[in-house]
Amino acid sequence: MKEMPHLDNTPSTPGKFKMEKPAYIHHHHRLRWHSTPLAKLTFWSCIFLGLIFMFFLRSSPSSSSSSTTFSSSTAGISDTTRRSLRTFSWGGPLWEKRVRNSARVRAPNGFSVLVTGASGFVGTHVSAALKRRGDGVLGFDNFNDYYDPSLKRARQALLERSGVFIVEGDINDEALLKKLFEVVAFTHVMHLAAQAGVRYAMQNPGSYVHSNIAGFVNLLEICKSANPQPAIVWASSSSVYGLNTKVPFSEKDRTDQPASLYAATKKAGEEIAHTYNHIYGLSLTGLRFFTVYGPWGRPDMAYFFFTKDILKGKSIPIFEAANHGTVARDFTYIDDIVKGCLGALDTAEKSTGSGGKKRGPAQLRVFNLGNTSPVPVSDLVSILERLLKVKAKRMMMKLPRNGDVQYTHANISYAQRELGYKPTTDLQTGLKKFVRWYLNYYKPGGKKSDV
Ligand SMILES: NC(=O)c1ccc[n+]([C@@H]2O[C@H](COP(=O)([O-])OP(=O)(O)OC[C@H]3O[C@@H](n4cnc5c(N)ncnc54)[C@H](O)[C@@H]3O)[C@@H](O)[C@H]2O)c1
Repeated sequence: MKEMPHLDNTPSTPGKFKMEKPAYIHHHHRLRWHSTPLAKLTFWSCIFLGLIFMFFLRSSPSSSSSSTTFSSSTAGISDTTRRSLRTFSWGGPLWEKRVRNSARVRAPNGFSVLVTGASGFVGTHVSAALKRRGDGVLGFDNFNDYYDPSLKRARQALLERSGVFIVEGDINDEALLKKLFEVVAFTHVMHLAAQAGVRYAMQNPGSYVHSNIAGFVNLLEICKSANPQPAIVWASSSSVYGLNTKVPFSEKDRTDQPASLYAATKKAGEEIAHTYNHIYGLSLTGLRFFTVYGPWGRPDMAYFFFTKDILKGKSIPIFEAANHGTVARDFTYIDDIVKGCLGALDTAEKSTGSGGKKRGPAQLRVFNLGNTSPVPVSDLVSILERLLKVKAKRMMMKLPRNGDVQYTHANISYAQRELGYKPTTDLQTGLKKFVRWYLNYYKPGGKKSDV
């Protein structure tokens, strides 16, 4: 089209101008109008607003659904990590079939258990053990990157081979959890999903609130409204004993002096459990685990990264308390913890509520699950040196005041009496199994060992 010189004069009233000119001229005029300063400003403002709108569309929590696929994201308390912005795909007939199959009970009087944190260390072992004995198991996990997600994926692959499907989602996702309870009438929930670790709270406190408090409340809200209500067994922690100096730690001891945000959120969980038991009749059992270790363990824990660093020839920090005080842990082997978890599920009474209303008093319990024999961390290193046949480069350091306590020691008589809990693996034997798994898993072409 030829340039029309008279259109260089931009009218102050475009509407009027429109009335006076033929359509094609008006169109051309609009093209030229874009090149004025006001037009440029308007144009770039629109682009900018559009980009902001798209950003919000991508990051805002949504639970839109279609007939085949649902998309959901973590809702609830906002979190500064990209974790809270992740979305998960779920829904559809095929997905529901997988959920149902995985949760199908195969043993007479078996349970149908929703295991949260199933791609985690304890969750993988508990899920596998439940499946082995014929219970229906549906896993649930958000596969966050607090530690190497490829280890979580390897555990998932392992569970898949034994018929356990892990639904990917966040425990803050109300719509997704509701859907799962519509598809399966879970008899039990084994709640292990959490932000673990003591020191990470200095870096990312929001993740503890997100998973251990908001997520737990969301899960309990769903459970209380489910019909039938499931019985819930969940992981608290020995860290709730905090600055308590009376040893061994008994469930009757004070737990109101947490030494870390992690411990505080676990303690909050115990109080929240009390509330949901009291108001809604949910059967709730909290398990205070004491430093769990073993194959498929957590890379952020000392026994795990000591092994890695000893093999690499890197020096390892060994903490000591004031006046060269020994730092010791009641290390508990994973198989013993699994037995304790199964004992808790087997002895859990039914919840008493229905339709969100309490119909009578329900069971509320808290147990220590430890090994009852604390071992100094320096002895742990000596055992690893022998098993790995490598001398460790020890670096003695003062115990920092950012969450770790000097000593843990469980009194387990209550769990012994009520759950038949009796740990049988000493640290030497357990570490031998861990080291065998570690060397096999991390050798080139490894990653295929069994639970
Ligand atoms: N391992 C121990 O020594 C120990 C000691 C005391 C208590 N605990 C508790 O036991 C439980 C299991 O611990 P673990 O050692 O297997 O830890 P883990 O980190 O290996 O497992 C926790 C799993 O939960 C998932 N998860 C976290 N937040 C989630 C969320 N918002 N939604 C969905 N999934 C989420 C993670 O992806 C992870 O796979 C945790 O509650 C932990 O606090 C563990």
